[in-house]
Amino acid sequence: MFDRVADFVTEKIGMRFPSVPTKIEDTYLVDSTQVVERPKDWLWPTQTNDQVLDTLTARLKRSDEYPKPGQEYRGYSWDDRDFLFGEKLTRGAHNEIFIDRDKDQVAHLWRFTRDEKQLAQNQHQMEVYRDNAGKHSQFKFTREVPGGWVEPEIKNQGNLKEYLDRGGILTLTQVEKAIADLREMQQLTGEAHGDIVKNPIFVPDFNRDLMYKAFEAVEPYGFLNFENILVSPEGELILHDYAGNADPLATGGWQEPARHDVHHEHFMSNELKFFEEGLRTLVNKIEEAHSNQPGL
Ligand SMILES: Nc1ncnc2c1ncn2[C@@H]1O[C@H](COP(=O)(O)OP(=O)(O)O)[C@@H](O)[C@H]1O
Ligand SMILES: [Mg+2]
Repeated sequence: MFDRVADFVTEKIGMRFPSVPTKIEDTYLVDSTQVVERPKDWLWPTQTNDQVLDTLTARLKRSDEYPKPGQEYRGYSWDDRDFLFGEKLTRGAHNEIFIDRDKDQVAHLWRFTRDEKQLAQNQHQMEVYRDNAGKHSQFKFTREVPGGWVEPEIKNQGNLKEYLDRGGILTLTQVEKAIADLREMQQLTGEAHGDIVKNPIFVPDFNRDLMYKAFEAVEPYGFLNFENILVSPEGELILHDYAGNADPLATGGWQEPARHDVHHEHFMSNELKFFEEGLRTLVNKIEEAHSNQPGL
C-alpha cells in the first residue's frame, strides 16, 4: 500500500520520498543526544534486529547511556519492541517476556525498579544463563540486549500444573531426569534455583499461616513452584527461571543465614530434597489414581 502511494506521489507530483535509512541514528530508536524526527511509515528496512541491537548497544555505551545492570531500558518504543522482540507473552513481577515466533526466541526485558537487590538479581540471573550456556542443556542463552536478554524459545505443552491438570502423566524416568538436572545445575552454578520449591516445612508457624494460600495452591503439585517447571513436547521437565528470585523462600532450616542463602549447602540440599520428594509424590499419586480406577 505505502509503496504504491509513494510511487504515485513520486510519479505524478515529482516529490521525492526520503531514502531508506541505513544507520540506526536515522531510524526509530530514541537517541537522546540527537533528537530526530521518527519516520512513521516504514522502519528498520535494511537491518536485521541483531544489527540494530549491536548498533544500539554500541551507541548507548559510547554515550554512557547504557542502562544500569538489571535495569529497564526505556528507549524502546512499542514499534521498536515489536520489530526487535516480537509479541508480548507475559508480564512478570520483574520482567516482561516477548516472543519472536519467526526466530523462536524469547526476550526478557526488565521492568523498572528502585530495588537494588532486585537489580542485582536481574543481572545475576542473566549472567547465570549466559555463563552456563553450553555447559548444561537446561541453560541456553542467545544474547544480551539493553535492558535484558534473549534466549531460545522453550517449546512446551504448558507448565507442570497445566500438564498434570490436562491428564499428563509423570513417569519415574521423567522425574529422575529432572532431579539429576537440578543436582547438576546446582553443582555447576554453586547455588540453588531459589524458586522451584514452596515446601512449608521449614517456614515458621506465623509465616506458614500468612502464606497458607500460596502453599495450598502448590500442595497438589508436590509443593513445587509449577510455574517455573515447563513440560517440553517430549515430556522433559524444563527447570526454568533459575536464580530469578531476589527473595527466596526459606528452605535452609531455622538458623540464619542458611534459611535464605541460595549458596548455602543446606539451602541447596533442602531444595533438592523437597524437589525430589515433591516430584515423587506426583508419580505415586498418578499411579494410585490409575490403580484406583475400576476396570484398569
Ligand atoms: N524461553 C522461554 N520459552 C518459552 N516460554 C518462556 C520462556 N521464558 C519464559 N517463558 C514463559 O514466561 C513465563 C515467565 O517467565 P519467567 O522467566 O519465569 O519470568 P518470571 O520471573 O516473571 O516468573 C514462564 O512461566 C513461561 O511461560
Ligand atoms: Mg517464573
